[in-house]
Amino acid sequence: MMQSFTDAKNAFIDEVRVDDYIGLEGSRLVYEKLINSLDRDIKMILLYGEPGTGKTLMLNRIYHNFRHQKDIHFIDTPIGTKKEFYRRLFQIITGQMMPVDGHISFDTYVEYGKKMNGKRNIIVLLDEAQIYPDEMLEEIRMLSDTGSMKFILSAHMTEDGDLLAKSHFQSRIWEKLELKNADISELKTYVYKRLLNRGLVDIANQFADRQYKFIFKCTKGNFRECNKLLYSAFEIYEYYESNKPDKVEYGKIPMKILEMAAIKTGFIDV
Ligand SMILES: Nc1ncnc2c1ncn2[C@@H]1O[C@H](COP(=O)(O)OP(=O)(O)OP(=O)(O)O)[C@@H](O)[C@H]1O
Ligand SMILES: [Mg+2]
Repeated sequence: MMQSFTDAKNAFIDEVRVDDYIGLEGSRLVYEKLINSLDRDIKMILLYGEPGTGKTLMLNRIYHNFRHQKDIHFIDTPIGTKKEFYRRLFQIITGQMMPVDGHISFDTYVEYGKKMNGKRNIIVLLDEAQIYPDEMLEEIRMLSDTGSMKFILSAHMTEDGDLLAKSHFQSRIWEKLELKNADISELKTYVYKRLLNRGLVDIANQFADRQYKFIFKCTKGNFRECNKLLYSAFEIYEYYESNKPDKVEYGKIPMKILEMAAIKTGFIDV
């Protein structure tokens, strides 16, 4: 039976699902370092990389794999205000919601942290940290210093690399780990497995070196960009299949379709 281009298109929806994780060489190394750090006396870890390199997925995976074994917590949406941040921290520490009119001073958290040194190893995964002001990062550092809380922050870097220039992240207290774009062989594995994981082996086999080279040239191995391009390509394919079925080729994905998708998504100027 022919496999559906609609399913293939949906395989490249840019969402973060823990089951989608593929242990590509680069990300596997970072994953292992992160795991090793969980029990070691490293307090502040910054996971950084360009947008779309898999930071959120990585934190998700760590949370998912350790949530039953460790005192681990995931703050996945950025918290706008200090007040909200400390409400969340309260919830993490006590397992309960703070009353609406409740207030606990920062010093109390620090005192608690010191008291728990050696007794608790609270791990907080915090995504989108580029949004947090330096002042809050400084408080996070002070909480880490108490010895009972470990923070793993992820943040994206823009092309001019301004993230690491952010004064707080320059300090040596940070252990820094970078997630990078895929090289071409990782990109092949990524595309192939993303389709295979959804049972689309016939479609996965429609890619050959020429197609991969083109995808790599457009996306530079960025996963999100790759999703964008292939989503669009399968959308075009889908259109042909339902409107001009006699024009559909089922051997290799025609370069023409990839090029059309690249134009549509802005990788190629016309
Ligand atoms: N190792 C991987 N295996 C499978 N899919 C991956 C992997 N890394 C990234 N992806 C996919 O790439 C897309 C982008 O990943 P993600 O959202 O985690 O990037 P990000 O680094 O958090 O980006 P941003 O900085 O914009 O938040 C997602 O669809 C994700 O599923
Ligand atoms: Mg993210």
